[in-house]
Amino acid sequence: MSNEQVNMPQFPEPIWKAAIDIPKFPKLIEDIEVDIAIVGGGITGITTAYLLAKEGYKIALIEAGELLNGTTAHTTAKITAQHGLIYDELINTVGKEQAKLYYEANCEAIDFMRNTIRELDIDCDLTDEDAYIYTDSDEYLSKLKLEEKAYEELGIDGDLVNQLPIDFQVKAALKMKNQAQFHPLKYLKPLVEYIQQANGLIFENTTATDVDYQDLPLVITSEGLKVKSKYVCACTHFPFYDGLGFYPTRMYAERSYLIAIKPEKIVSEGMYINAEQPTRSVRYMNHNGESILLVGGENHKTGQGIPTILHYEALEEFAHQSFGIKEYLYRWSAQDLTTLDKIPYIGQITNNHQNVLVATGFRKWGMTNSTVAALLLKDLIIGNTNRFEEVFSPSRFNGNPSVKEFLSTNLDVAKHLIEGKLEYPLRDVRDLQNDEGSVVNVNGKRAGAYRDEEGKLFVVDTTCTHLGCEIEWNSGDRTWDCPCHGSRFSIVGDVIEGPAESPLEKINLVE
Ligand SMILES: Cc1cc2nc3c(=O)[nH]c(=O)nc-3n(C[C@H](O)[C@H](O)[C@H](O)COP(=O)(O)OP(=O)(O)OC[C@H]3O[C@@H](n4cnc5c(N)ncnc54)[C@H](O)[C@@H]3O)c2cc1C
Ligand code: FES
Repeated sequence: MSNEQVNMPQFPEPIWKAAIDIPKFPKLIEDIEVDIAIVGGGITGITTAYLLAKEGYKIALIEAGELLNGTTAHTTAKITAQHGLIYDELINTVGKEQAKLYYEANCEAIDFMRNTIRELDIDCDLTDEDAYIYTDSDEYLSKLKLEEKAYEELGIDGDLVNQLPIDFQVKAALKMKNQAQFHPLKYLKPLVEYIQQANGLIFENTTATDVDYQDLPLVITSEGLKVKSKYVCACTHFPFYDGLGFYPTRMYAERSYLIAIKPEKIVSEGMYINAEQPTRSVRYMNHNGESILLVGGENHKTGQGIPTILHYEALEEFAHQSFGIKEYLYRWSAQDLTTLDKIPYIGQITNNHQNVLVATGFRKWGMTNSTVAALLLKDLIIGNTNRFEEVFSPSRFNGNPSVKEFLSTNLDVAKHLIEGKLEYPLRDVRDLQNDEGSVVNVNGKRAGAYRDEEGKLFVVDTTCTHLGCEIEWNSGDRTWDCPCHGSRFSIVGDVIEGPAESPLEKINLVE
């Protein structure tokens, strides 16, 4: 990432938050004992807490910031088992049986979400839609044909078509029928209310930092408080407690961008994603009585890549060319994790820590995968058999894809670790404009500086507190992002996203 980049104006909060008021919850202020401690207040943690509260367990849901403020509030919210071009690849890497289980688990998750919406009578703008992967290139046409063959092999209801139901030209598209889309926060708010009514305890602004694993696990918070429970569920992207599972070596973080526009051409059916890179993902939604479009893509590893503004500009250009833009409403970005074989890690964190469960690695398909996780975690805790346990087990090892991906993931980390240390920044803090951030040279050493809109300077040590890689400036979100495992820090160095747990060191610089 370039060190010199122009900052972009801030936009309002992501569109999902604009329409809904999520209740606020207190901080944990004393040690407590419950049946199950669930850490992470996104769709994964909330759905898991909901299911376990429904089973009569006393639960505590612990969130570092506010509920529903992480990736779940920044999603596109397509509910689908069409996770890009995946099934042909999975047949080749993990085999037909496992690929089929992955598909079926996601279909069951969609059914569960539909049933829950019906059962609790949730008004969350759910619409049934066909999902399409499209291409305009010959190279990807052959890949779509292989994916179509995989659909046939796995019994997936889909067709290769040469036209989309909207005014948008493509060479071909692979359609998966009867998928859905919704408003994720409208769906989750009633689940939070259910947890409250079932006497579940919910704590915000409470960061879990460790598990003291004795007979039973004790969650320790950053303020030294303890939550005693029979099971702990880590629904925090990188698990806040690793238990020597070495999760940072087995997953990588990718950021993705979204813009919301009022289009010239109205789209009122279907959900779309292209087959090639850079990704272009499109869905319509109703916003203040008008049909608008969410256009996403431009994913890249966190802390790496071109200045943020160029990603938004690329999406804007695509939206302009494809649909016309009447009004540019919102833009935001978020990140999610990908595992070595692209299948989430759901289950016991390691074989030695049977009572600490993890759910992560949803590869930007976490609306259904988080629900797969919640259903599976519930069964593991209750002791029910679940036929998807093996395919998602974090302890699986599918030699073929994993070894290659393990090496490339960790070589990439090593490269960034070394490159960052060798870089000698030339910029001086005096060169910074107001509302600009950059890596700078402070007394011959690399440092990160941001000058706010009033000219106040904030300087931090750029050494990531996770494993020591050098962080980079993200001009879109005004954060410091780590290229190794995707930790993110605020301008004053506080942790926004892990795996890092400690803040960056502050540097007091008198100008
Ligand atoms: C741009 C984008 C578009 C996407 N579009 C789609 C889509 O169309 N369909 C789809 O299926 N999926 C999509 N996804 C993926 C999906 O949004 C995510 O997989 C899903 O929201 C992840 O939910 P989560 O609950 O696991 O994480 P989050 O919502 O991020 O929740 C995790 C929570 O854990 C908290 N936390 C972290 N560490 C700690 C700690 N130590 N102590 C306490 N709390 C902690 C965080 O503060 C956070 O609130 C998209 C993702 C992105 C980035
Ligand atoms: S996130 Fe691992 S070194 Fe920064």
